Amino acid sequence: MKIGVLGSGIVAQTLAAGLRKHGHDMAVGTREPAKLSTWAAAQPGIKVTRFNEAAAFGELIVLAVKGSAAEQVLELAGAANLAGKVVMDTCNPIADLPPEHGVLRFFTTLDDSLMERLQRLVPQAHFVKAFNSVGHARMVNPSFAGGQPSMFICGNDDAAKASVHALVEQLGWGTEDMGRAEAARAIEPLCMLWCIPGLLRNEWTHAFKVLH
Ligand SMILES: NC(=O)c1ccc[n+]([C@@H]2O[C@H](COP(=O)([O-])OP(=O)(O)OC[C@H]3O[C@@H](n4cnc5c(N)ncnc54)[C@H](OP(=O)(O)O)[C@@H]3O)[C@@H](O)[C@H]2O)c1
Repeated sequence: MKIGVLGSGIVAQTLAAGLRKHGHDMAVGTREPAKLSTWAAAQPGIKVTRFNEAAAFGELIVLAVKGSAAEQVLELAGAANLAGKVVMDTCNPIADLPPEHGVLRFFTTLDDSLMERLQRLVPQAHFVKAFNSVGHARMVNPSFAGGQPSMFICGNDDAAKASVHALVEQLGWGTEDMGRAEAARAIEPLCMLWCIPGLLRNEWTHAFKVLH
């Protein structure tokens, strides 16, 4: 599949490289392609370009940018370049405030979520939440003594969720479908929970698993 990754940070780099290893054609978008030149030189098969060009390139889009900039990035990407496409949204609505006793602060409330805002901003695209509540170091084909970890996803379009389910499985995760976009109100705060051991005790190597 042709996949456009919007973002230049560690999550964008990790998912772009991981998906490339699984044979996808990748473009990474940023405001400043030059800043990824060293990384890109070591990543054959991944082109680095601007947000709008990466969005136009992708049959499926991965959104991996600072949560507070996500709406701006979608505007730079261009609604026409996203129309009808799946947008796998990894972003968290982390506020520019320090954590309190290891608990991150969000700029959303429990009655709204970042993904719902993004879905309202670009209604022609099909947003699916995924990869928001695990650290980048364990995103791609992780190995855990406790078995296969669970990836919580949600979104309004079943076909879009099926596409994301396939990518999640390729990257070594089991999928837990939590329903429609409103479920992002519960999935996004899992990032707060996931980060607490890290912020309190510098433990960053865990993942969530649902037991059935
Ligand atoms: N770090 C993790 O392990 C982890 C794990 C799970 C989920 N997440 C979530 O994944 C997302 C990406 O995280 P990250 O750590 O890789 O990167 P990040 O530092 O949160 O975000 C970097 C990206 O945000 C864009 N950005 C920042 N300010 C902007 C602005 N004013 N206008 C337009 N774009 C702007 C940057 O664009 P340019 O490329 O143009 O500079 C860059 O692509 C975040 O929402 C984060 O909460 C992170």
